[in-house]
Parts: sequence; structure tokens; C-alpha cells
Amino acid sequence: MNTPAAAPQHFVSRHVVVAATGGPAIAARIREARPDLEVRERAPADVTADDLAWADTLVAFRVPPNAGTLGNVRWIQSTGAGVDPWLVPGTLPDGVLLTRSSESYGPMIAEWVVSRLFAIQLQVLPLYDAQRRSEWVPREIARVAGTHAVLLGTGDIGRATANALHALGVRVTGVSRSGTSGHPAFDRVLPVSALADVVGEADWLIVSTPDTPETRGLVSRDVLSRCANAVLINAGRGAVVEETALPEALEKGWLRGAALDVFVQEPLPASSPLWSDPRVIVSPHISGLTTAAGAAQAFVDNLRELEAGRFPSWTVDRSRGY
Ligand code: GLV
Repeated sequence: MNTPAAAPQHFVSRHVVVAATGGPAIAARIREARPDLEVRERAPADVTADDLAWADTLVAFRVPPNAGTLGNVRWIQSTGAGVDPWLVPGTLPDGVLLTRSSESYGPMIAEWVVSRLFAIQLQVLPLYDAQRRSEWVPREIARVAGTHAVLLGTGDIGRATANALHALGVRVTGVSRSGTSGHPAFDRVLPVSALADVVGEADWLIVSTPDTPETRGLVSRDVLSRCANAVLINAGRGAVVEETALPEALEKGWLRGAALDVFVQEPLPASSPLWSDPRVIVSPHISGLTTAAGAAQAFVDNLRELEAGRFPSWTVDRSRGY
């Protein structure tokens, strides 16, 4: 763990800037739970250097773009599950504590994954296009049950997804760092070193890993080239996939489709070929949303642990990236 310079028992949070999507609702809940704190809410772009000189604590998804400094902030409560924006080298001074959201995103992201899987397998979009043209053209529809999903990532999101797919009769192979998961919804779990070999058996390649030095680029062109007509579903981070190889993967039939919620660059640039490829379903990073209640609760829980002189359970290990 990257230990903050100040031991937690010496840390007292008094001045909190909330600069996140849904900031007013998060700030209102924090004020209600902790009326002893002074809380300023700001749109991320409106946070100033003065705000961060005043603050000891910042609740945000990423560095406020226009403040130019983190000022006197010593604790950052990320409002996201993935903390990659904070771990870009040069972003966080060593002594700053980083904690992440304790909210469980798994169930919501599992719904998003299942919605894309059904949309693709049951050909919802081509049928809808035909409807727009008043065309009655029956199609062969293949069952979801009996297909095989390879899930890269067996954490909260991977497990919730495995549960949902297992209930639908999908065979589920997990791929994780340790090669184990101890979760009954996985038919088997393999280590990351087996990824390139197992993707050839996948109907669905589902990514739910954070962006860390170990996961970045894991779904490389080489891994994609070993897929045999799979559908890539990415609800983790764009950088885990070699995005520039996707058009070729679709052209060559390594992939028959993709449902992508995350991208190397967000918003996805208008010039990206992914926007217009009919085999690709794009969504704007909405598969797992932080709620105001969840963000405020994470802050309050982590603060309670800090006040008890402990590093919060949700302290980010900067070397692992989560
Ligand atoms: C969203 O992707 C998050 O990390 O919360």
C-alpha cells in the first residue's frame, strides 16, 4: 500500500469540496450525516485553486480540470469504482490518501451486460431497423442458453455478471490474476496467462477489469486475433482493450460484434469508426453509475475509519491500481 505521509490518526477532515457529477445531492447527504463539516459543492470545472487551498478533503471522480493544484487536500474520496484518473503519474502527491467508492456496481453492470448480450443474440437492433421500414422478415434466432462467456475479471462486477449469465444457462469461464474465484457461478476460473488460449472458445468476451498497469492492453490485437466470431462486451475500462485493433477484428470476423461502454478516450471522438459500425453498440460510460447515496455513504464510512485512526478499508493501493 502506498502509505500517506501523515498517519491517519493525525488527519482531521473539516473542509470538504464535493466536485463530482451529482455533487449537490452528494453534498446534501454529507451535510445531513455530518453537520460538523464545512462542505462546498462545485461543478468540477468550477473548482478553483482557492477552493483547494481551503479544503483538506476532495470528493471527486477526477482532478478538477481548472484548479491547477491540489492545494491543501490530503484526502481524496473517489466517487468512482475505477480510480485510474487519479493514478496517472504526476497527479497525486505521495502524502495524499486516496480512497474509492464502496458502492457495489456489480448488479447494475450485470444488467447492462445482459441487455447487450440479449440485444445482440436476439437481433433486436436489425429487427427494429426492419420495423422502421415496415418489413416483415423472420430471422433465425439462436438461444443465449448454451453459449459460453469468458469473463475477464472476477471481482464484484465479474461475479454479479457470472451469476446472471449462469442463471440464463450460459457456461461461464472466469479469468483472473489468481486463477481462482471461489464463486459458484463460474464453471471454471483460469489465470490471465490462459486468456489467449481460451478466447477461441468464447461466444462472449466480457471485460470488467479496472485500468491498472497489469490489465492495460490485456485484450491485445493478438488476443483478439484468437477470438472466433466472439462478441466483445466491455464495461471495465477502454484501455484494457487494444481499441485501434477493433475495426480489423470486426472485419476479419475475429469478433462478430461489440458492445462498448468505455473507451480509451472519453467522450469517444467523433472520428472513431466505432460510432458508425453497425456491429458495434456504443454507450457513454453508463453501465455502472455512482448514486448520491452510495457516494455520500462511502465518504462517511471512510471518514469514520480515519477518525478511529485506521486507514479506511477502501484505501487504494496505488501499486495495484485499486
Ligand atoms: C465508473 O466507471 C467508475 O469507475 O465508477
